Amino acid sequence: MEDLIQIVREAGNIILEADLNHDFNQTDLTDDNPMITSKEGRANFVTKYDLKVQYFLFDQIKKLYPDAKFIGEEDDKHPSSMDGRCFIIDPIDGTSNFIFDNKFSAISVAMMEDGEVTAGIVYNPYLDELFYAKKGEKAYLNQRVLQVKPLPLKDSLAAFGTSPYEEKLADQSFEIARKLLNHVVDIRRCGSAALDICYVAANRYSFFFELQLSPWDFAAASLILQEAGGKITTFDKKELFYEAKTSIVAANPVAYQEFYQFI
Ligand code: IPD
Ligand code: CA
Ligand code: CA
Repeated sequence: MEDLIQIVREAGNIILEADLNHDFNQTDLTDDNPMITSKEGRANFVTKYDLKVQYFLFDQIKKLYPDAKFIGEEDDKHPSSMDGRCFIIDPIDGTSNFIFDNKFSAISVAMMEDGEVTAGIVYNPYLDELFYAKKGEKAYLNQRVLQVKPLPLKDSLAAFGTSPYEEKLADQSFEIARKLLNHVVDIRRCGSAALDICYVAANRYSFFFELQLSPWDFAAASLILQEAGGKITTFDKKELFYEAKTSIVAANPVAYQEFYQFI
């Protein structure tokens, strides 16, 4: 774990030292050329820093685990199965925040063993906040142990994600958020699902949902939240799977129950 944490912290420096220039829709991501290009879906961008962080993580982690497989968001060549040891990586979760200098982005690294998440790290380099957990052990934010509190919705903040790359989910997302607003202190939409889920683990929110996320958005954070005593399932209350896109509900157990009473 210490070695992995060290690698993720070093990768954080790539984000902190990034020289942002806001040239959209350029296709060449070499060092001297503009840095942003579009991917599939609406407003879905990749920068040369997403690629830099991803390949730094791949290279460094391979030195620790030469036989490991890798699933990275910015990599098309995903392994056909997750048997054995496999890392699921989002090099920058919150790329739009990163591009617009919003300083709410994270590196997310999940270690899977035979399909199960056994270690998770989510690191926000701007705040130097490192969330991490090992399966069956505690979850931490830096040195502090995380323990989810049974905060009711009415006494807490909630957050949601807009599934920005799937326009057809927008109305439904906002309808749910509108209903949720009646039951909470207020609602946040911060732009990094990995951090949003970790914020539930840290009691900064009692509740988070998003109607479509990819495994690299939630794999590491799901273990962190579970080890802190929180609940994370699909929107229809099914156990998580890590092979495909899915909806996510992440909450403390009290807020989770309350949500399904009015939704
Ligand atoms: C996105 C962020 C965002 C969430 C999107 C994700 P990306 O990840 O987590 O908060 O709403 O659904 O795809 O594209 O910035 O890595
Ligand atoms: Ca992401
Ligand atoms: Ca990303």
